[in-house]
Amino acid sequence: MCGIVGYCGLRPAAPILLEGLRRLEYRGYDSSGISVGNDGKLTVIKKMGKIKNLKSHVPEDLPGTFGIGHTRWATHGEVNDENAHPHSDASGKLTIVHNGIIENYIPLKEKLMAEGVEFKSETDSEVIVHLMASLYDGDLEKAVKETVTHLEGTYGLVCVHADEPGRLVGARNGSPLVIGVGDGEMFLASDVTAMIAYTKQVVYCEDGEVVSLTAREFRTTDLKDREIEKKVDKVAWDLSEVEKAGYSTYMEKEISEQAESIHRAMRGRISTENASGILGGLNLSNQELRRVKRVRILSAGTSYYAAMTAAYMLESMARIPATAEFASEVRYANPVVEPETLFFVISQSGETADTLFAMRELKRKGATVLGVCNAVGSTIARESDGGVYIHAGPEIAVASTKAFTSTLTVFYLFSLYMARMRDMAFHNGKAMVEALELIPGKVNEILARKDELQAMAKKYLYAKNFLFLGRGINYPLALEGALKLKEISYVHAEGTSSAEMKHGPIALISEEFPTMMIIPNDSLREKNISNLKELKARKGPVLVIATEGDTEIADIADDVFYIPKTMDILTPLLTAIPLQVFAYYMALGLNRNVDQPRNLAKSVTVE
Ligand code: AGP
Repeated sequence: MCGIVGYCGLRPAAPILLEGLRRLEYRGYDSSGISVGNDGKLTVIKKMGKIKNLKSHVPEDLPGTFGIGHTRWATHGEVNDENAHPHSDASGKLTIVHNGIIENYIPLKEKLMAEGVEFKSETDSEVIVHLMASLYDGDLEKAVKETVTHLEGTYGLVCVHADEPGRLVGARNGSPLVIGVGDGEMFLASDVTAMIAYTKQVVYCEDGEVVSLTAREFRTTDLKDREIEKKVDKVAWDLSEVEKAGYSTYMEKEISEQAESIHRAMRGRISTENASGILGGLNLSNQELRRVKRVRILSAGTSYYAAMTAAYMLESMARIPATAEFASEVRYANPVVEPETLFFVISQSGETADTLFAMRELKRKGATVLGVCNAVGSTIARESDGGVYIHAGPEIAVASTKAFTSTLTVFYLFSLYMARMRDMAFHNGKAMVEALELIPGKVNEILARKDELQAMAKKYLYAKNFLFLGRGINYPLALEGALKLKEISYVHAEGTSSAEMKHGPIALISEEFPTMMIIPNDSLREKNISNLKELKARKGPVLVIATEGDTEIADIADDVFYIPKTMDILTPLLTAIPLQVFAYYMALGLNRNVDQPRNLAKSVTVE
């Protein structure tokens, strides 16, 4: 997704903008650019490709202590230099960068062209700068406010004008913007990662706000120019957490730190005394939680597979009917909101447009919506009626790994909490607590055997297709395993339930079409083994994730990776790991850009 960086202060702006853009690379992009102001003019340099390409075109000593930068994830118009941001008006004195989609850009563009404006790009964003130029009369903040009243759609935008040196003006509606308050300098960016190297003092902008900032101060107002008091927050994590810390990729680092991240998701949230979970921030009393008769969990992508797993936990442990639904579908389905239904949204970034807009639609209908997020201070986290942070730490790799297992952990604790206030007995809760506390160690046992998965990946690098199968609470894990593989290795993969395989997908099976099966030693093992044999009968290669000691499976499958024993219902916290590692080594073996796979964005802030 597009990334925005703005700076004004006493230091040369170009190096700070370039470094900020480099830290936003993880969001996914295909071109980038900067605009730096100095001596009554703006210098705009923008290039397709990676930041290092842009950097090679920026003079080392480019003067100017204020400016803006952008990484573009193309939505309108192909990937080329002209479509990259920043966009300039005809005079070259005004430039803007934009994240989001302007839904009504075509009529606006037609009107501007009829007035003689010449467009250089195919983007929707360029409309903004020309409209703003037509409204500018020496007050940039005023021009921004007038401009955005004409826009329909989403924007996080920042602009500079050569005649207002040292000033940045930003506006937010649907795409994130955060102010960084430095010592004699200010930052304005899409997310904290761009500025964490310089300041931890941040201010989160809300939709409908306009911010005008100089090196020493910032002013936040609404579109009617009413001042808005803003709180300065302190970022809880530091720069080291967004470094690779010796790993070759962010994904390898984030896979490897899951024992710690799962432990952090549990820390302070287990009551040994009550054999239950403790979750602050739900903003619901026990009585209100007891009245919950249904749970609906909305999200996207990997977070949707976490939602499916969570729904299974809730129904199985707490006996509460629960479903997982695509946020993008629910938003436009005119959902029925019943008082005894509790909604959750899951979002690692807390900025996913599909999920954010679905939450807003539900709240508009009177729903109570809790957010389970990783990014502290993110829009979904701030707009939800309460919720839980998963404390996974910054997740930089586009493919989500530690956020997935930390989200599951939070829902295990929530399900335990709901179960223990209903029918679950103390001893069952105690067994669950004890089993949960052993999970981080078991995760490390699995990670210590990564080389087995590397060997398996090497053996199957020929595969152009993969089928992933699982049953029960591991059915969503099959779907997640397929997503992990396809999104980073570009090998086509699909997941389905082991039982469903017989109703169609088995037609795909041949010696060239391998299957990854998840067969823990649980109550569905025998059924899974029947499906395994059906695959083998058709000469399909089969890799199995099985429970240690289950030697019978090794006699049937082509390859087996064993995971430690745990409670049946907790197996997803363990089966997720080999699925991630296998996909990782397949992608490495195919020389893919593991951290920034093609076409993908870390946080999809457009619909
Ligand atoms: C998962 O590996 C992908 N990066 C993607 O499916 C992601 O899970 C999805 O876009 C949702 O993101 P969120 O959790 O930040 O809302």
